[in-house]
Amino acid sequence: MGTRIAGTGTYLPRSILTNHDLEKLVETSDEWITTRTGIKERRIAKEESVVDMAKEASLSALGRAGLSPKDIDVVIVGTLTPDKRFPSTGCLLQAELGMEGGYAFDLSAACSGFLYSLEVADGLIKAGKAEKVLVVGVEKLSEIVDWTDRSTCVLFGDGAGAVVLERSEDESDVLASEMLSDGRLWDILYADKCGYIKMKGRELFKVAVRNMEEACRKVLSGAGISPKDVSLVIPHQANVRIIKALAEKLGIDQEKVYVNIDRYGNTSAASIPIALHEAIEEGKLKRGDVVLMTAMGGGLTWGATLLRY
Ligand code: ACO
Repeated sequence: MGTRIAGTGTYLPRSILTNHDLEKLVETSDEWITTRTGIKERRIAKEESVVDMAKEASLSALGRAGLSPKDIDVVIVGTLTPDKRFPSTGCLLQAELGMEGGYAFDLSAACSGFLYSLEVADGLIKAGKAEKVLVVGVEKLSEIVDWTDRSTCVLFGDGAGAVVLERSEDESDVLASEMLSDGRLWDILYADKCGYIKMKGRELFKVAVRNMEEACRKVLSGAGISPKDVSLVIPHQANVRIIKALAEKLGIDQEKVYVNIDRYGNTSAASIPIALHEAIEEGKLKRGDVVLMTAMGGGLTWGATLLRY
């Protein structure tokens, strides 16, 4: 028995904030942001709540899967920017979708939130506890960004990505996964209760490349798959230089690495499901292909998932 992606969807807020717009807010330049991060613009949720974005992405994923919300057994939402302290975004989403039965919850793992959620969903499906699971990564980071701090405000954006997972009847499956965390390093990247994102960028950069590489190597060797047999790598979109360094270390051609950070910046838990959806829509990921996903975020948390689509 395996786990298969039945459908994916996204929601990106309409409002776009470009690097040139940021030049008017803080002492920065399009040139600095582009060369240091690869980001050109990001989306800002002005009218949309976190639940609104999660709902739109979920409906799109359900539509592509040919399913209705009533078919879903479990909803897992990866987010660090919930609308309310409680109830969870998952429960609010469950109500918005008009679901009856099943259960919903949030998972807090910062930028690794989507991969951690996928890990739980895969486990529930393989344990026979659920047949269809809706996994959402959604963030409204614009609410916890200090718009006077140029070292962080240029990096983040808002958005949502959703994936419907179901029991697989074919070769599609999660082939291997590796989730890790090290709480001792929490203060490299955090936000206090009601506070803004604080980040030791340079330190994080080095740890990110090293940890993601290690997790990727573990899943590849665990599944007995060589880097050359990977069709596509979908890394968390935090910095294009991190992404390039990672591909280089893994010996994977940059052409096989999906990048959309230029348009959305770092959307934390939403970044991988947004990229996954776009890669599928653009025909860069086809049924039977092997995709390697990897993330690194606050916690510190990190991981990698190898999946046959
Ligand atoms: N515009 C212009 N100059 C700037 C800006 C800016 N927006 N921000 C910083 N600078 C300046 C600094 O003040 C510094 O100036 P100085 O040399 O005079 O002191 C100089 O640029 C270099 O700063 P660094 O911080 O060393 O720049 P670096 O090349 O490391 O890039 C960055 C910074 C982009 C943050 C990078 O370190 C990075 O991407 N780190 C990792 C981020 C990451 O992985 N996040 C993932 C998890 S996110 C999550 O979980 C929510």
